[in-house]
Amino acid sequence: MNNYNIAVIPGDGIGIEVVDSALKVLDKVSNNNNFKLNYSFYDWGSNYYFKNKLMMPEDGLDLLSKSDAIFLGAIGHPDIQDHLTLNGLLLPIRRKFDQYVCIRPSVLFPGVSSPLKNVKEGDIDIVVVRENTEGEYANVGGFQYHETNDEIALQTAVFTRKGTERIIRYSFELAKQRSKKLTSITKSNAQGYSMVLWDRVFEEVSKDYPEIETSSLLIDAACMDFIRKPKDFDVVVASNLFGDILTDIGAMITGGLGLASSGNISFDDKNPSMFEPTHGSAPDIAGKNLANPIAQILTGAMMLSHLGEDNAANEVRESVIETLKNGNNLTSDIGGNSKTDECTNEILNNL
Ligand code: NAD
Ligand code: IPM
Ligand code: MN
Repeated sequence: MNNYNIAVIPGDGIGIEVVDSALKVLDKVSNNNNFKLNYSFYDWGSNYYFKNKLMMPEDGLDLLSKSDAIFLGAIGHPDIQDHLTLNGLLLPIRRKFDQYVCIRPSVLFPGVSSPLKNVKEGDIDIVVVRENTEGEYANVGGFQYHETNDEIALQTAVFTRKGTERIIRYSFELAKQRSKKLTSITKSNAQGYSMVLWDRVFEEVSKDYPEIETSSLLIDAACMDFIRKPKDFDVVVASNLFGDILTDIGAMITGGLGLASSGNISFDDKNPSMFEPTHGSAPDIAGKNLANPIAQILTGAMMLSHLGEDNAANEVRESVIETLKNGNNLTSDIGGNSKTDECTNEILNNL
């Protein structure tokens, strides 16, 4: 029997509720498919910070490095500045384990209505490939004359040729397996160095993939076209910040953040990948049993595929799709009036 060691970080807010739901689904599907997920739970996050002034212990990353994958809920608390919580836990994990590919699918599932007119089931099927370790998130910068009237803040984006090329190459490979269409997103009209390098690398790599239809869009136009003509997109590759913004739009046009899964993938065998939904800790609904667990559950399916348990992953996806199609026990963000645990039970019953 295959055994996998999973580091579980429920984190903050609804992260705790939706991870609890997703683990129930993962337990059932692993049992049915004869493999075992051994969980190590880490109570890191904002409550840990209130006690220890740190988001995770000093050896936190070492502890995680022993796992086959990391399953995370969400991080963020209204009483702690976000740059402390996220730079203290989530972003260091992505960087330390070189999880340079962030995969974010936006699929309009049956039974889900898009806020866009004239868009029906199956019309939207986009994968955004977000660069996940450098770019605008490089965490390079500083303050000068801190907290005076002369204050200067520097925030430097870091675009390396290697980092740019590997994410673009990954996207071409993905496009080859899908509809052979790839859109690159930049802002090279205003960002005359980093994004010009990106465009140049995209052009160079495209020569190795003559079968792929390519286009390049500026981020502002891409935001517009995700809304105006989402059917035109298939694989989309973007820098860290642009990918972050585009995937919230991708989520909204396909039913919202409650359905949006995400994976941070490392290609180094020594490093675990991390699976966390696109959404955050949602303090506005946290602790009320209102969160939609589906994004976390589909993120769990993504983790199962990554571990090589494709059959189990497909069973989870099918049970979610059936639940959405039947429309019973859905949460209020997608038009239902059920609670998190009721939706979870519906998915478990359909599994
Ligand atoms: P958010 O994603 O937490 O919430 C945005 C809106 O979507 C809220 O109205 C929320 O109720 C709703 N929503 C999100 N997920 C939902 C779900 N599963 N079911 C139903 N509704 C859902 O974004 P925010 O409010 O901008 O951020 C809140 C905190 O989370 C901040 O501290 C932010 O930094 C953090 N954050 C963390 C992550 C992460 O850990 N990966 C991602 C995004 C934001
Ligand atoms: C996401 C989140 C994070 C990001 C934040 C919380 C740092 O918005 O995963 O989309 O920007 O990567
Ligand atoms: Mn985001």
